[in-house]
Amino acid sequence: MQRVIIETKRLLLREMCLSDMEALSSILQDENVMYAYNGAFSDGETIDWMQKQLQRYKEYGFGLWGMFLKSTGEMIGQCGITMQEYKRTQIPEIGYLLARKYWHKGYATEAAAACREYGFNVLCFDALYSIIRDTNIASQNVALRNGMILTDTIIKHYRGVDMPHMVFCVRKDDAKSSSMETYKNTKETEVQPNPDMVFPVRDCETVTFVKPTVKNPNIIVGEFTYFSDTGFERHVLHHYDFNGDRLIIGKFCQIASGVTFIMNGANHQMNAVSTYPFYIMEGWPKTPPTAENLPLKGDTVVGNDVWIGQNATILPGVHIGDGAIIGLGSVVGHDIEPYTIVAGNPARVIRKRFDDELIGLLQALQWWNKSISEIQQLIPLLTDGDLMRVKKSIIKILEQNG
Ligand SMILES: CC(C)(COP(=O)(O)OP(=O)(O)OC[C@H]1O[C@@H](n2cnc3c(N)ncnc32)[C@H](O)[C@@H]1OP(=O)(O)O)[C@@H](O)C(=O)NCCC(=O)NCCS
Repeated sequence: MQRVIIETKRLLLREMCLSDMEALSSILQDENVMYAYNGAFSDGETIDWMQKQLQRYKEYGFGLWGMFLKSTGEMIGQCGITMQEYKRTQIPEIGYLLARKYWHKGYATEAAAACREYGFNVLCFDALYSIIRDTNIASQNVALRNGMILTDTIIKHYRGVDMPHMVFCVRKDDAKSSSMETYKNTKETEVQPNPDMVFPVRDCETVTFVKPTVKNPNIIVGEFTYFSDTGFERHVLHHYDFNGDRLIIGKFCQIASGVTFIMNGANHQMNAVSTYPFYIMEGWPKTPPTAENLPLKGDTVVGNDVWIGQNATILPGVHIGDGAIIGLGSVVGHDIEPYTIVAGNPARVIRKRFDDELIGLLQALQWWNKSISEIQQLIPLLTDGDLMRVKKSIIKILEQNG
């Protein structure tokens, strides 16, 4: 009987043995599962992999364990903790690998969270890591759900290939607060709105709050603004430090998938006879054009409660007012007034959403700047289609607030 290490709601993690070879082969020899490892393993590589885990159990007392469904006993993947080389030292890494038919069911997150607790409470590590190939978005999402944050990027040399990897980390002290908060929304308990959680929609890994995922200091995003995808920063293009331009987005914005923000680095010099950027190419003079010679348009600023439809593109330097709606597929090159609907390429005003009086009242109210409990109380007003009644209520609130 092999040693059971961890039991979760649906899974058992136990040490593997040679009788698990068949199940292990079906996972490691599936090209789809192994794309992050540069392809399926051969028989020899699969045997080596098993031997390595057996050796790890003996040497450290832990390794990658087999992940078994409690309901059927089937081995559906592996998850565990292994020591990995990072900057000339050894760090404990939570790793996971799942048979393809068990993807998107939350098993990796369930097992990884249990390994995190085991790593902190039983193995007494102060920090745990996951080192994940840059192209492996699904595993990066599991790390984020596991309360980890991106701390570094490195190149790993594996199977003869240099592969960029992202280093995610969770510290024991932080895990007690923020990461547990992040993970909390998967439990059946009543949760309060929490702007620091990455995945605000239960059991959904494709809607993310932007603020807790952004690392670039030149991207400033307000609380509760969400993106209907992961990896928001990859949708901010041509954003180079040397231009110093910032993307500033307010609170409670709704950004659909495929939206891109084009920053000033996209625009080549246009006041000379050639637009070719010689200075960025190897071997050519390295002198960049001066700022005056570049068509810099400044910061891109999006207000609060702005809804940006699917695949819209926002050009450099555009300012979008509070409550605006950007139609899907629009290309926005000019500033948009508050509470205005625009669409098309180039984006044109379709109409104002409300009359000037209500727009003025909404801008005076600034509901997005109120506390969570105040906003909770305002929700009936914010979702009321009777705009005359809404006006009267806002006037009353503003009068009460002096
Ligand atoms: C802009 C939008 C909200 C519609 O607003 P609306 O006020 O109901 O607009 P209408 O449907 O009445 O269209 C008004 C005009 O704008 C045009 N129009 C509307 N949306 C457009 C778009 N995305 N691109 C180009 N033209 C558009 C219509 O064809 C119509 O043109 P016409 O006056 O020549 O007939 C909607 O089209 C949209 O783009 N929604 C975003 C949906 C989305 O991306 N969701 C992702 C999940 S959050």
